[in-house]
Amino acid sequence: MPSTTQRAARLAGAAFLVLAAHQAQAADPVKVGFMLPYSGTYAALGTAIENGFKLYVQQQGGKLAGREVEYVKVDDESNPAKGPENANRLIKRDKVDVVIGTVHSGVAMALAKAAKDSDTTLIVANAGADAITGPMCGPGIFRTSFTNWQPAYAMGPVAAAKGHKTAITVTWKYAAGDEAVAGFREGFEKSGGKVVKDLTVPFPNVEFQSVLTEIAASKPDMVFTFFAGGGAVKFVQDYAAAGLGKNIPLYGSGFLTDGTLQAQGASAQGLLTTLHYADGLNTPRDNAFRADYNKAYKLAPDVYAVQGYDAAQLLQAGLAAVQGDIGKKAEMRRAMRAATIDSPRGPFTLSAAGNPVQDIYLRKVEGLENKVVEVAVKQLADPARGCKL
Ligand code: BEZ
Repeated sequence: MPSTTQRAARLAGAAFLVLAAHQAQAADPVKVGFMLPYSGTYAALGTAIENGFKLYVQQQGGKLAGREVEYVKVDDESNPAKGPENANRLIKRDKVDVVIGTVHSGVAMALAKAAKDSDTTLIVANAGADAITGPMCGPGIFRTSFTNWQPAYAMGPVAAAKGHKTAITVTWKYAAGDEAVAGFREGFEKSGGKVVKDLTVPFPNVEFQSVLTEIAASKPDMVFTFFAGGGAVKFVQDYAAAGLGKNIPLYGSGFLTDGTLQAQGASAQGLLTTLHYADGLNTPRDNAFRADYNKAYKLAPDVYAVQGYDAAQLLQAGLAAVQGDIGKKAEMRRAMRAATIDSPRGPFTLSAAGNPVQDIYLRKVEGLENKVVEVAVKQLADPARGCKL
């Protein structure tokens, strides 16, 4: 039987090991996995998210809640078929503490499933898939961007107030396009309008001739669209080249003209879109963010950069609450859900489902800017249909 002295020595040894493990963990960097598109039509969006995230970390001296940050990256190519494999490379092989991703709704749904199955904390920094903060919601699932429903729904009353009675929708055939169209239809028809036709092209096709011919023949009062990245550049150029803009105004979720204006040039001038960010907000917070982003990357920030920046802010809020001990998952996640994010877009909180409750701006393209016109809908919360927590 061990003596009292031996028992005391063993207890002290065990306590030392626990302390040493804790200190080693605190000294280890927080491992952040970026699952983003770095190739294909959404490549620029992925880069902007990463830039925004890293800018915030740099502003904190390269640390979050006192912990160094290590980055691991995977290019998901906006390919849903490779979603599970790419997510598991980060989660199972690289053993990241938190995943930041992604842009494409279909890929994001695969990522959210992998994150939930492995109880990994996920911050969605773009993809609007309604399901992620709907039926797929969970305590470890967060979003710093939007649902596809949010900006599209906000365009409904705006378009109806302009006197438009009939609309055709046109988008890529996948979750983001389908959900944006459904959101617009809900807002537009509630306000007295009628969607008369839905047109689609497969993702990521940019052959728009047949849909443009059909729009010209149908002569609706307006067109509502969801396109983003390289596809948005081409659609806006083709719409203008077909001479449609003069008689059938084009509206969209703001991705249509965000981060794309340099390439769209004259074809985008005057377009009205709705989004949770805009140029010309002229708040001290946004001005400081824009100046710092510009200095770091020699680029004007766009909505994707803001979403990445806010993903880092949200992680910081969680880590600060647990003094950097990312092992305290439940406590960290509770703090993240309760956080108010001091975003360049304006401060926002998260809904119970983990999605931003935020102002949606009406913007007008002027030169290289999506100039804010007004707040189209104040503090718009996604209905989070099907989320049970
Ligand atoms: C999406 O797939 O959810 C998405 C992609 C680009 C911009 C906005 C949404």
